[in-house]
Amino acid sequence: MRLLFVGDIVGGSGRRLLLSLLPALRDQHRPDFVVVNGENAAGGLGITPKIADELLAAGVHAITLGNHAYKHREVYEYLDREPRIVRPANYPKGNPGSGQTVVESDGARLAVVNLSGTVFLEAARSPFSEADAILADLRGKADHVLVDFHAEATSEKVAMGWHLDGRVTACVGTHTHVPTADARVLPGGTAYISDVGMTGPRGGVIGVKREQALERFTTMMPVRFETSDEDPWLNAVLVTARQDGLAESIEQVLVPGTTH
Ligand SMILES: [Fe+2]
Ligand SMILES: [Fe+2]
Repeated sequence: MRLLFVGDIVGGSGRRLLLSLLPALRDQHRPDFVVVNGENAAGGLGITPKIADELLAAGVHAITLGNHAYKHREVYEYLDREPRIVRPANYPKGNPGSGQTVVESDGARLAVVNLSGTVFLEAARSPFSEADAILADLRGKADHVLVDFHAEATSEKVAMGWHLDGRVTACVGTHTHVPTADARVLPGGTAYISDVGMTGPRGGVIGVKREQALERFTTMMPVRFETSDEDPWLNAVLVTARQDGLAESIEQVLVPGTTH
C-alpha cells in the first residue's frame, strides 16, 4: 500500500499547487491513496463544500481537518453528509461531522482518523484515550490506519507516535505548517513524523503575509491577517506499507512551486 499524505493546504496558492502537481506526483509515486489536510484550504482558514468537492474530484480519497474545521458554517451540513472528510474525533460528540472514516481503493480499505492535540489547542477529550476507542471500533473494518494528529507541541506528537506504534500504519503530525526532519518508521512498525508541513506559501509566516505577521510581532497591535501566496511549496509524506497494515517506509515529499 502506498499512501501520499499532503500537509495543510493553505489558501488558493496551496490549492492550485496541489492540483497542478497531483498528476506528476501520481506518476512518480503511484499512491493507492491520497489524503490531504484541508483545514486552511479556504482563504487560509477552514474549508467550504465547493473546495472540498474540488479536492475530491481531483482524486483525493479523504480530507482531514483541525482546529479551523468549523470556520465556515456552510460546511457543517457537508461534514455530516460527506463521509470522505473528517474533523478531530475528540471534539464534542454532537458536533457536525465525524472523526473517522474508511475509504477504499482497489479493494484496499484505509481508515483515516483525525485527532486534535490538547497542548495549546482545545479538545473535549484526551486524544490518547480517543485513539484507543477508535482503534477498538475500527477492528476488522480496515486494512490500514492513518492518524492525522493535529497538534502544536512536538512533545504531545512524539508521545502519540509511541502510543500508536505497532497499532496504526502511520501517525502524521499537522498544524504547525513547518515540516520536521524526524520522519521514521518506529520499532513497532508505525510510520511517524512530527509535522508534515504545509502546502502553501513559504514566503509568508506559516501562511500569513509576512509584513502583517511581522507588524503584529513587532508592535503587538491588532493586525488584520491575509493569506500570502508567495513561494508556495507542497509538503507531503509518502508512506509504504505491507499487507499486515504496518509501514515499511516514510519519506518526505517537499516540492517547490514554479512561481519563485
Ligand atoms: Fe493548519
Ligand atoms: Fe491547525
